[in-house]
Amino acid sequence: MSIIDHTQPEMMVDTDLATSFPAGFLWGTATASYQIEGAVSEDGRRPSIWDAFAETPGKTHRGETGAVAVDHYHRMPEDVALMAQLGLGAYRFSISWSRVLPDGTGPVNEPGLDFYDRLVDELLAKGITPLATLYHWDLPLTLHDRGGWLNRGTALVFADYAEIVARRLGDRVDWWLTQNEPWCTAFLGYGIGVHAPGIEDMQAAATAGHHVLLAHGLALPRLRAHTRSSARLGITLNFTPVYATDNSPETLLGVEKEDIFQNRWFVEPIFRASYPEHLFTNMGVQPPPIKDGDMALISAPIDFLGVNNYSRILLRSRPGSGNAAEHTYETVAPIPGACYTEMGWEVYPRGLTDLLCRLHRDYAPQAFVVTENGAAFEDMWDGGHRVSDPRRLEYLREYIRAVGQAIAQGVPVQGYFAWSLMDNFEWAEGYSKRFGIVYIDYASQRRIIKDSGYWYANFLAAQRGQESS
Ligand code: FCB
Repeated sequence: MSIIDHTQPEMMVDTDLATSFPAGFLWGTATASYQIEGAVSEDGRRPSIWDAFAETPGKTHRGETGAVAVDHYHRMPEDVALMAQLGLGAYRFSISWSRVLPDGTGPVNEPGLDFYDRLVDELLAKGITPLATLYHWDLPLTLHDRGGWLNRGTALVFADYAEIVARRLGDRVDWWLTQNEPWCTAFLGYGIGVHAPGIEDMQAAATAGHHVLLAHGLALPRLRAHTRSSARLGITLNFTPVYATDNSPETLLGVEKEDIFQNRWFVEPIFRASYPEHLFTNMGVQPPPIKDGDMALISAPIDFLGVNNYSRILLRSRPGSGNAAEHTYETVAPIPGACYTEMGWEVYPRGLTDLLCRLHRDYAPQAFVVTENGAAFEDMWDGGHRVSDPRRLEYLREYIRAVGQAIAQGVPVQGYFAWSLMDNFEWAEGYSKRFGIVYIDYASQRRIIKDSGYWYANFLAAQRGQESS
């Protein structure tokens, strides 16, 4: 399959790793529409908040945008062929709302929907299971002009959009995610403004977060009605587990507060039909406008929880100047001896095992899928066919091992998706951070499988060997 020598020790797949996973486990990679597609004004697509945000000076690294990205819109068949070459069993992609409904509502733009129709057919023809995300942050700009996620009406039209997509793809797509990382939509987009639409208002974050959850809840029955009985519906949340170096009351209080904010804000409405106590007072805001019936919609049963995890947070006590009132907590960074990715995120595979076990214990979803996990590291491209990325390879191997350990402890994990298939537009970081297991030479748009990609392919081949033996 390649010119790389797969017998190199670092490419080898430990046999114990390959035996840790159940048959039928979904092995894939993930991407998102605005990060890869480009072709932003083609075939009737209209702008999303990310087009507008990225074009605003100072918002992204060197003013970079997703206007071209990795040109996936034009190279989709080639990219699916690459997935097949890697032996992927599944692929998680997101649908651009403003390709399907250029203004968010109104007439369907058939050419936009056709693109995803062709993508699904192409995947299925190669035996790759599609997993579709309906919202990965690219809200149609027209809806933003009407208030975006601050407007309850956006949740209602999201459900209409979900139905339109399900009516077209529901005869072939069985895995659905309504929303990707509402925490990022709400906090990064509306709370601190580092993501689109760039609003800095924590009250707005609370409101936006509620409407995103409501959108999820309203979409569920619409998806159920227009998909097969084998369809599995879920939502993807991002989690960053919080640890302590010491047991001081201040540190433990810090862990509780950070955990509520980082990890419980969105999972509790879904599994417990309520927001965590103290969440909004800790955020210094009023509760969002919750109407009768909202929490019941939001907590309707889902078939799986999508988990995105990249790192953890470590806290320690900070005594201040000796005055008891000043005694508080702080984040430990950098952690001595720890390894960090280019994003400044600590590599901590055990965090994923702990996280899955904890979510299983506290919320008991029917199943889990790790919908994103991966690392930005600098790659060493030789200008030819070889991209050496030993730290990403190691990251994936250890995090996959961590998933296996959660399964061994009884957690029903049904899939793992590496972020990302290929380098892409990393939001505010532009093209400066590379997460792909496939390298992109942006000057030529050439795709080159990295060592981590070859390792993943070897690992998946070993998996298939296990399943068939
Ligand atoms: C997640 C996003 C994904 C990607 C990774 C690195 O928060 O869902 O699009 O940017 O981070």
